[in-house]
Amino acid sequence: MSKLWGGRFTKQTDQLVEEYTASITFDKELAEEDIQGSLAHVTMLGKCGILPAEDVEKIKDGLLQVQGMIRRGELEYTIQNEDIHMNIEKTLIDLIGPVGGKLHTGRSRNDQVATDMHLYLRKRVVEFVGHLIKLQEALIDQAKNNIDTIVPGYTHLQRAQPILFAHHLMAYVSMFQRDLERLQDSYKRVDILPLGAGALAGTTFPIDRHFVAEQLGFGRVYENSLDAVSDRDFILEFLSNASMIMMHLSRFSEEMVLWSSTEFAFVELDDAFCTGSSIMPQKKNPDVAELVRGKTGRVYGNLFGLMTVLKSLPLAYNKDMQEDKEGMFDTVRTLQGALQLFAPMVATMKVNTDRMRQAVNQDFSNATDIADYLVNKGLPFRQAHEVIGKTVLHCIQNKKYLLDMSIEEFKTFSELFESDIYQVLQPEQVVNARNVFGGTASNQVTEAIARAEQVLVQS
Ligand code: ARG
Repeated sequence: MSKLWGGRFTKQTDQLVEEYTASITFDKELAEEDIQGSLAHVTMLGKCGILPAEDVEKIKDGLLQVQGMIRRGELEYTIQNEDIHMNIEKTLIDLIGPVGGKLHTGRSRNDQVATDMHLYLRKRVVEFVGHLIKLQEALIDQAKNNIDTIVPGYTHLQRAQPILFAHHLMAYVSMFQRDLERLQDSYKRVDILPLGAGALAGTTFPIDRHFVAEQLGFGRVYENSLDAVSDRDFILEFLSNASMIMMHLSRFSEEMVLWSSTEFAFVELDDAFCTGSSIMPQKKNPDVAELVRGKTGRVYGNLFGLMTVLKSLPLAYNKDMQEDKEGMFDTVRTLQGALQLFAPMVATMKVNTDRMRQAVNQDFSNATDIADYLVNKGLPFRQAHEVIGKTVLHCIQNKKYLLDMSIEEFKTFSELFESDIYQVLQPEQVVNARNVFGGTASNQVTEAIARAEQVLVQS
């Protein structure tokens, strides 16, 4: 089969080379973007008088036919045509004859592929912002449903201080908000048109890059033609943002796995989001959460993979850069799956408030508060810390909790204790005492939810 670039060659390409260098098996995912870019390019060729109107019409017609074939799954991609760009161009020429060969005037696959990638990621960035909003909405709904639910808060995975479960969920809303803002910020670097850079140096034809940008809805045009064809920062930035989202999801996954265990039993995940064991009939496994946690590894891998591909690459285009695609597509699919599953998994999660309460009642997470109590009565914090440390030790040795102690018992540790200590130690009191901006007090969390909802409306 003859190649679109065959003129300079006297031999057929070795078949193994063809297979090794072709990208059609994966870059066919860019088919829609490739057609879109070509339609804008050929329209510009007509407008600038580089091609006569009738040729432009024939090419546009042909491109739309190819688009139809692709959408109906009729286009047979071949390795001989290497990549999506040449598969489409070859099909076009087969359909409309030699005039189809005029499409590539003033263009190179180097600026073409970069344009396709920009078009592709621009769409994805917008979609992912939407997915993040849905997840935040699910979290906010659960937070509202659990505005009175108290749960142990942890540091070092040891019970630390009681918090509202809503406060814990809202921490994730904040994390995903940063992710969302990072994606939105990255948009301005995806929204730049490379087309018109040619192979690397520009083109001899009097093209109008800004006209193409306008047609494709790009906010800007690359300033430098070498940069236009060799820049893959925008992909790295996406992979990095995706990695961070997965990292957040994997932390949440880890908590879901812990919380749904019999040991914690804080939540029950809906049957629809769990799977069973082929041998142990009683099992209900949090597979989705586990897999999201696990797949975070491949998303990081895709980021480091492309970072490494680009390291030390001389300007401008090098074939190495074809390696930018599989990792990107894989990341898009992996992240899509994770976010699409997480929102309904959070929404349908049953919160075991009794069990959480029981946990709060059976720990010493109110210890900081009696230390603060003594401080308020004039004792220096360091001394108060020491006194309460001893009090807790006494409780542990006598198998009781702070609220089980009599006032006489309290007084053996400090004369400053009065009967109002029992009020101070109540979990509600402990939570509501943290009435600082961003703290876990009920009114603070209620306001945080209201602010988050306001932000979502504006996103
Ligand atoms: N399939 C190539 C890629 O994805 C397209 C650009 C090829 N350019 C070239 N000069 N061989 O990178």
